[in-house]
Amino acid sequence: MWGGRFGEGPAAIMREINASIPFDKALWRQDIAASKAHVAMLGACGIVSGEDAVAIERGLDQVAAEYERDGVPEDWDLEDIHMTTESRLADQIGAAAGRLHTARSRNDQVATDFRLWVRDAIDQADAGLEALQRALVARAGEHADSIMPGFTHLQTAQPVTLGHHLMAYYEMLRRDRSRFHDARLRLNECPLGSAALAGTGFPIDREMTAQALGFARPTANSLDAVSDRDFALDYLTAAAQCALHLSRLAEEFVIWASQPFGFVRMPDSLSTGSSIMPQKKNPDAAELVRGHSGRVVGAMTALMVTMKGLPLAYSKDMQDDKPPVFEAAGLLTLSIAAMTGMVAEAGFRTDRMHQAAELGYATATDLADWLVREAGIPFREAHHITGSAVKLAEAKGVALDKLSLAELQAIDRRIDDSVFAALSVESSVAARKSHGGTAPEQVRQRVAEARRALGMDS
Ligand code: ARG
Repeated sequence: MWGGRFGEGPAAIMREINASIPFDKALWRQDIAASKAHVAMLGACGIVSGEDAVAIERGLDQVAAEYERDGVPEDWDLEDIHMTTESRLADQIGAAAGRLHTARSRNDQVATDFRLWVRDAIDQADAGLEALQRALVARAGEHADSIMPGFTHLQTAQPVTLGHHLMAYYEMLRRDRSRFHDARLRLNECPLGSAALAGTGFPIDREMTAQALGFARPTANSLDAVSDRDFALDYLTAAAQCALHLSRLAEEFVIWASQPFGFVRMPDSLSTGSSIMPQKKNPDAAELVRGHSGRVVGAMTALMVTMKGLPLAYSKDMQDDKPPVFEAAGLLTLSIAAMTGMVAEAGFRTDRMHQAAELGYATATDLADWLVREAGIPFREAHHITGSAVKLAEAKGVALDKLSLAELQAIDRRIDDSVFAALSVESSVAARKSHGGTAPEQVRQRVAEARRALGMDS
């Protein structure tokens, strides 16, 4: 394709290091779509004849059908998907194929193709996250009243409801979706027509190609347009944060599925057995989601470091932009799907959760709050009195509400027997009805709002 200036062909190692076709063939649909938009514009602007434009468009359809049927051929001499497609086109329609590359360069071409690909990846992530949100909201609605221990430092802190806990992940995913949405808005400008770096002398219509490819507008600066990969980094940073959220949810399942916890029965369909220990049922899918998050963060880091310090405009380093994005997108899609199945099908053992919530003095704060509310004691002092009660209960090996009134009054005589009502886990969660709190009535409100936002009732 560029042999004119060269006396001899590239060394084998040059061919190998240069070839991006092994991975950028994934862009073939985008490459065909962008080429069709480009040639239709060249025809409409009289830069190529109407006849050639039609021949090229038809030829591109034939190449697409061939790729669909046989896959994209991998010839390192053709370097990448752009030259492969042009060469296949020449085989189909002959000399007219050579007019397709008028008023463009592979630099604006790859920037356009890759934006189109990342835009689809964003839409796919959004659809997957919406499905996972629906699963979370459905299970949260079932468990608005199910009591479990809430943790800080993974130490029992206060009772919460399982519905509340699941809705926390709904919120994280809401932010993830909004990050992908922002990324899509910034991405949606069309580089095509920026040519190699400086624009072109041909009288092209950039609005026309931008519109044909679903972009909001053409990019404003040709140097920036061919060397910008922010859109890929925006995608990767959103993907990395999302993967972190998924890894946290996955980790909850790993902990909850362990025998000492026993909060959840993992669906068989997302677990594996052990080849030696017949009793084992391992939460491998959850562990892999946890593990994959590391690779997604790695992909983000890889592209950031690749882009760091590159002068304007295009440099070949930027060819390395694609593998990390492809890898992250594949891992993210799988992770979202695995977590959706896990949330939808997990068997929550609410009996075990309730039992656990009664251990660990989870209602100690409620005793302190009672002392503040009913006896007018300052919170710091109430905290101290409650600490003494917990110490006594611990020494006797009983729950707080199993101490006798006499024992409590020996610690502080202002305590009366109305305190016991405040010490159950049910009254503890019911009391926390501040906006966004764990009280079942609050959780039901949040679930109803989420169902509306997701169109789940219409
Ligand atoms: N395969 C190249 C890439 O992905 C296409 C752009 C090549 N441009 C160039 N000036 N050599 O970046």
